[in-house]
Amino acid sequence: MNTTTPVTRSTAPPLLIPKTLKGQRALVTGANSGIGRAVAIALGEAGADVAVNYVTGDQAANDVVAAIRAQGASAEAYRADVSSEEQVATMFREVIARFGTLDILVNNAGLQRDCAFPAMTLEQWHTVLNVNLTGQFLCAREAVREFLRRGIVPDVSCAAGKIICMSSVHQEIAWAGHANYATSKGGIKLLMESLAQEMAPHRIRVNAIAPGAIRTPINTSAWNTPEAYKSLMTLVPYGRIGEPEDIARAAVWLASDLSDYVVGTTLFVDGGMTLYPGFATGG
Ligand code: BGC
Repeated sequence: MNTTTPVTRSTAPPLLIPKTLKGQRALVTGANSGIGRAVAIALGEAGADVAVNYVTGDQAANDVVAAIRAQGASAEAYRADVSSEEQVATMFREVIARFGTLDILVNNAGLQRDCAFPAMTLEQWHTVLNVNLTGQFLCAREAVREFLRRGIVPDVSCAAGKIICMSSVHQEIAWAGHANYATSKGGIKLLMESLAQEMAPHRIRVNAIAPGAIRTPINTSAWNTPEAYKSLMTLVPYGRIGEPEDIARAAVWLASDLSDYVVGTTLFVDGGMTLYPGFATGG
């Protein structure tokens, strides 16, 4: 094998998901596009019934619901702004009424409002913190209340519930021009770890996934021209952009009993972005 020529294949492997989540009920926030969409569909493929949360774009959410139902699982769309305490409470009430209970929460909804720091408005700051961080708090709190109420059902899972927080490599990597976003992801790291520590005695597992550059609408300008893609690749040792399915496979594993002893961990799925590739030739 030639070890000096870099591999340039840009596609991710096909999604092959075993039915590890049969009988479980999941809620995925921000599930109408990007990473959330792929995670919701993969959880359905793994056998879970899935509540598809979204805030705008009914059609896209309905498409995700249809894709999950086509695989034989139940699915329903729920419109709610995760930064609204009232809307989150209503959504959880409706999801639990429809599915009976909840076993898995994927706290995925997130957005960016990028701006150079001196010009950043308080609104840009609040929008990002409210959705990315407060939204995860509000949804995790509702999920934990249901997990504690119901407890472990051994036929379903050896845990009383699982929460997966969608973080980012930017919980570690500083990001100029994105102070609000990086702050929200740094906050998610310690929210996740503190919650994991508090809930572990109840057999509720809380973990995070830190995606790197994934081909989704949030970062289109980073990959949709050959020049942008080439420049992005200087940050990715593995030499390809991530696909939403790369994250979806990790989420299925973290939600399943296959990862039962994994508690309070952040799983980086980033093609090596956090290895600081500049140091491969510098430093
Ligand atoms: C951001 C993307 C970015 C990636 C890597 C993600 O958390 O949402 O815009 O491309 O991190 O920098």
